[in-house]
Amino acid sequence: MEEGFFGKTAARDAHGPVQMRKVIEPVSNVIGAIRLPGDKSISHRYAMLAALADGTSRLHNYSTGADCASTLACLRSLGATIEHDKTQHIVTIGGRAGHFAPPTEHLDCGNSGSTMRMLAGVLAAQPFECVLTGDASLTRRPMGRVVRPLRQMGARIETSDGERAPLRLHGGRLTGMEYRPEVASAQVKSAVLFAGLQAEGETIVEEPVRTRDHSELALRAFGARVERSRNRVSIQGGQKLHAVEALMPGDASSASFFFCAAAIFPESNLVVEGVLMNPTRASLLDVLSALGAKAKVLQLEEQNGELIGTVKVESGDLRGALVEGAQSAALIDELPVLAAIAPYTRDGIEVRDARELRVKESDRIALVAKNLRAMGAEVEEREDGFTVPGGQRLHGGEIDTAGDHRIAMAFTVAALRASGATTIDGAEAASVSFPEFYELLDLVVER
Ligand code: S3P
Repeated sequence: MEEGFFGKTAARDAHGPVQMRKVIEPVSNVIGAIRLPGDKSISHRYAMLAALADGTSRLHNYSTGADCASTLACLRSLGATIEHDKTQHIVTIGGRAGHFAPPTEHLDCGNSGSTMRMLAGVLAAQPFECVLTGDASLTRRPMGRVVRPLRQMGARIETSDGERAPLRLHGGRLTGMEYRPEVASAQVKSAVLFAGLQAEGETIVEEPVRTRDHSELALRAFGARVERSRNRVSIQGGQKLHAVEALMPGDASSASFFFCAAAIFPESNLVVEGVLMNPTRASLLDVLSALGAKAKVLQLEEQNGELIGTVKVESGDLRGALVEGAQSAALIDELPVLAAIAPYTRDGIEVRDARELRVKESDRIALVAKNLRAMGAEVEEREDGFTVPGGQRLHGGEIDTAGDHRIAMAFTVAALRASGATTIDGAEAASVSFPEFYELLDLVVER
């Protein structure tokens, strides 16, 4: 047993993978300034496009999460030369100028849905066979959404049961097409665009609602022409990519845990520097402002089409919010932490149209409800969301993360204002996207 940043950290489970229990004691305030490791969504895309490009790319502030390391490992198995300076967080990638080498082993995507889905798009056009696999959570998640369009473009893909990984992919010549995904998914859009980049003719994706647009912006940064009008994106096949030198903005979804932590303390004052402010990723700040927190953008600049800013959040009297429709899709990764702070608002938070939460790294609707109840809160669970009434006091409880990084971090935030200690079972899951989470939190909490 060792003394961790937040109380005791104990390793359990001598026979299975090591599981950490973190004990979170309540704190009295959140105050300070931090800077975050690079955005996970952008890091995946830049790594994949750099590996496809001609020349050597350098990616600064590359995500430190295990998911983005899975992407690098897969790209290495595909013949890209990759140097990862883990002290300076710089990744140098020697591109394959459009032609990967057939891998000699299965491509292990770990816990990362982004790696599996977007890499499937990249590899659909490569003339060899390979197998994409992942951990227990990833092999339970739906892959039909990405397999179907890639098959329509000409790839041959076998799944384990029509829907799930491992995916055995036989890539080859692809033909561009017009595709309307049935679910709002940036990963599906990106997979089709990455396949479309290497296909014959034009590929168009028309989304039901607009999702994060990092792939479109990244493709342009690497020199490809991508057209967009409203929810319709198109790319002409056969374009070549050139190498880039680029800085990954601070992770917008990691920032959301800190913004929400600041929002629930009356005297808080938190500054996050260099954070991604792309409008398709920053709507948590709109919700926090609508709730009554004070969120201020202190500085804003553009790099490679992405907005990066410095943001200050102070609390206010938090009222209530309804999140639904396109906003639920835009906030999909932030909904667990919004749910976790909902009891501390006056009128509560209701979330609708978020069925996708059920097929993330865990069933996030069920786990949000289970863990809020473990802390003494009332919550109504629905198929596509939940209602968490406001004005509730939370007590410490035993949190079940089910190995899901965002559940571990969301309930750590809830625990900061609960009465008594909370144990987070499986706290190590945070490192899937944000290994420094507990360390940085320790810098900004006042006991
Ligand atoms: C991501 C898109 C979202 C999100 C995931 C990252 C991306 O998934 O939940 O964490 O980088 O494109 P979907 O595209 O499946 O909604």
